[in-house]
Amino acid sequence: CALQPALYQLSDFPIGCAVDLNKLDYNPTYAQLLGQQFNQLSPENIMKPEHIHPQPNYYHWSEVDSLLSYCQKEHKSLHGHTLIWHQQLPPWMEEFEGTTAEWEAMFKDHIQSICRHFKGKVRAWDVVNEAFNEDGTLRNSIWKQHLGAAYIEKAFRYAHEADPDALLFYNDFNLAINPKKRAAVLSLLKNLKQRGLALDGIGLQMHISIAFPENRVIESAFQDFSKAGFLVHISELDISVNPYGGDFQAGAEIWERQAQKLAAVISLYKQIENSQRYGITFWGLSDADSWIPSAFNRKDYPLLFDGNYQAKAAYCKMKESL
Ligand code: G3I
Repeated sequence: CALQPALYQLSDFPIGCAVDLNKLDYNPTYAQLLGQQFNQLSPENIMKPEHIHPQPNYYHWSEVDSLLSYCQKEHKSLHGHTLIWHQQLPPWMEEFEGTTAEWEAMFKDHIQSICRHFKGKVRAWDVVNEAFNEDGTLRNSIWKQHLGAAYIEKAFRYAHEADPDALLFYNDFNLAINPKKRAAVLSLLKNLKQRGLALDGIGLQMHISIAFPENRVIESAFQDFSKAGFLVHISELDISVNPYGGDFQAGAEIWERQAQKLAAVISLYKQIENSQRYGITFWGLSDADSWIPSAFNRKDYPLLFDGNYQAKAAYCKMKESL
């Protein structure tokens, strides 16, 4: 199908993509397609603590600043990902030795230095990422160990203080497929919101597959969070075609199933109140850019474009569904 009109031109909510700055700078095919199709970008790695805060008193701004100027020039919004996580931490942070007060000061400085630097320039922040275990308990991250469960609330307060105009999100995976985890997250978010915290939305990552979760499960996740008053961001969408690994034969039937799954996600997302649709972000541009094959050591082709940046059935189906 034709590449124009572009995805975002057909949509009444932003269509985003995780971006690799190196590819944007050095791969013209990647840069052309990304710039053409999407109007919101999430940096895939360069805003994470190990990249942006590699030393205690040093913040590495230049890469994200350059992405930000690209976004401003090209009229794209930037989604901040992510302030507080248990992964991709710089070694100094993991090994930090200090009293509770010193931990608190370090945590606050990390959040507020970053939010102040980008004040007024990012549309939103994933303030806390992946704080829950699958059984609905809080993950025992360094943040929970040193600051207690209240670190989540504090993170949102500090971020809001430093950049009052940015929308603030909690972001996590498996919230559609795992009802226990979803209930725990929803209950924490409702509780914080009731207490007046600036907490605008939920990032449902949606690393899903052609086989699961079932559409009615996806629908209930969208409805649970939107009915509770949160903006809903499908924040890291990809649709695995080989979720169990092993030998894999790609073929027209598989691409069609992937396209159907995406169409279902789009149509369920459109059932959410317009004002609560923050946007849909794909976690990578082409199958050659996906995190999945290397993370799980398997063949997979979860995105809209193939490894040669050609549109797949999912791309064309998405355009019909928007
Ligand atoms: O930077 C090094 C590079 O110097 C080295 O040569 C190379 C060799 O392997 O590794 C590079 O680091 C990799 C980094 O991505 C940058 O490419 C890491 O090994 C790799 O583990 C890291 O993976 C990222 C992953 O988060 C880390 O957990 C993926 O790119 C990124 O897509 C993924 O994104 C996360 C979201 O932030 C949160 N939700 C889940 C999602 C998937 O894991």
